[in-house]
Amino acid sequence: MIIGGSASQDLAAHVARELGEELCYVETRKFPDGERYLRISGELEDEVTVIQSTGYPQDENLMELLFIIANLKDLGVKKVKAVVPYMGYARQEKRFNPGETVSAKIICDLIQSAGADEFITFNIHEECVLNFFDIPARNISAMPAIAEYLSKKLSRQGKDNPLVIAPDKGAYGFAQEMSAIIGCDCTYLTKVRLGPDKVETKIVDVRCDSESENTVNVDSVKGMNAIIIDDIIATGGTIVNAINILKQYGASSVDVCCVHPILTNNGATRIYAAGADKIIGTNSLSSDTSRVSLAKAIADALRE
Ligand code: R5P
Repeated sequence: MIIGGSASQDLAAHVARELGEELCYVETRKFPDGERYLRISGELEDEVTVIQSTGYPQDENLMELLFIIANLKDLGVKKVKAVVPYMGYARQEKRFNPGETVSAKIICDLIQSAGADEFITFNIHEECVLNFFDIPARNISAMPAIAEYLSKKLSRQGKDNPLVIAPDKGAYGFAQEMSAIIGCDCTYLTKVRLGPDKVETKIVDVRCDSESENTVNVDSVKGMNAIIIDDIIATGGTIVNAINILKQYGASSVDVCCVHPILTNNGATRIYAAGADKIIGTNSLSSDTSRVSLAKAIADALRE
């Protein structure tokens, strides 16, 4: 049995369809003072999976997730699996500066203490966050789903010289995973973050690690159909810089892929204005760019 929170209703419906499971309905509304009302209707089974991303508005979506989990347990459900395709607050996995809240740990504690028996997410920004859980916690990669979508797009458009590029070294693992599926080279740029909405990107390191089999240098960008891949696009600053550099060095087209399209502060507009052909995100978060469905990947994970 599947329940979709209000942030992930469509995705939950598709997962239920993939699995041939029943979709259970949740009624949510707000009292005049802003407090949340939540009611789960229907006969519940012993095992229920809740699907709810905790992107913007993070606190509301998180509270709803906690209400659903705790309510299910209170109503007698024996096992609750929490699928949180995009987990908000996961980027504060440690105290970067003295006195900061380790938000990711608090979120994990809350989900667990609400009664979740298992946790599943996608491409969490720092995998170590999952260590905050005592319950089984899995981090699934959306790269196969994105790569499948992209391969079809490239072949439809007759683009046969793709180059997958990570906009910073942290995303290089995604680029490697995706390029291996598509069957092309990959590389990364270097990025220095100057503030929450300001980054500096350099081309100097447009090359793979020297130990890597693939060696792609600056000249290799010319005439290529560049595919940028990152886990998250927030303000779009990282991607805009990457597009500017790739265009400057002669990429003939740039497609932009990510798992979690947060796209705040007109991020999508700025990315298109910088020259992206298409932004391809998943439906971990609902946006105009959520072209790749995670439904099958979630269904597969739930079958395991
Ligand atoms: C950080 O390292 C992440 O992988 C993304 O690159 C980052 O969150 C993107 O942020 P923005 O779109 O604001 O540059």
